[in-house]
Amino acid sequence: MLRMLSATMAGLFICVSLACQFSAEATEPTQQPAAAGSPMKPLERVAGAEKGTLKNPYTDNADAIAAGKKLYFSYSCNGCHGGGGGGGMCPPISNDVFVYGSDDDTFFRLIALGSDGLMKQGYTRKGRENVVGPMPPFGELIKTDEELWKIIAFLRTTFRGDESRRNW
Ligand code: HEC
Repeated sequence: MLRMLSATMAGLFICVSLACQFSAEATEPTQQPAAAGSPMKPLERVAGAEKGTLKNPYTDNADAIAAGKKLYFSYSCNGCHGGGGGGGMCPPISNDVFVYGSDDDTFFRLIALGSDGLMKQGYTRKGRENVVGPMPPFGELIKTDEELWKIIAFLRTTFRGDESRRNW
């Protein structure tokens, strides 16, 4: 009788400690801090970053450029800027005239906020293209900052301007 009881107790003990282990495993991921590069919405990224600090992690990354090209078409950027970024109804991205600036931070904010949103934050038109009009905001449409960076990585490959202008 006593032996049976102790066997049951031992079994119970194992069960309890196993359950403990499982629950520890289940809660572990939520306790880890979010990885630095974890995707977030473009507007969240913009709101959380100081001006001038956003930097594209995908510049010159072939896989990201290929993905970015598809995204550029899927979000209909080509409808205004042309399939190769050379312009059409709207300013070219491939030349070395940049309306607000050519750096990653400015590009990211312009595409997320649109030109009206950008100007509300104190930016002014510096470059002059022959087409002047508003750039629509895409911060709600583009799902993640990763997607937006990939689009920008693709846009950089369309650049045909003076290499010395390259600040990305
Ligand atoms: C409805 C037309 C339209 C669409 C769609 C559009 N843009 Fe634009 N974009 C513009 C206009 C107009 C400007 C110039 C804004 C200004 O003069 O203030 C511009 C400017 C830009 C610039 C700056 C160009 C420079 O020479 O400085 C970039 C970069 C850009 N757009 C990227 C994109 C991307 C990426 C997409 C798709 C997610 C996109 N645009 C979709 C109209 C559009």
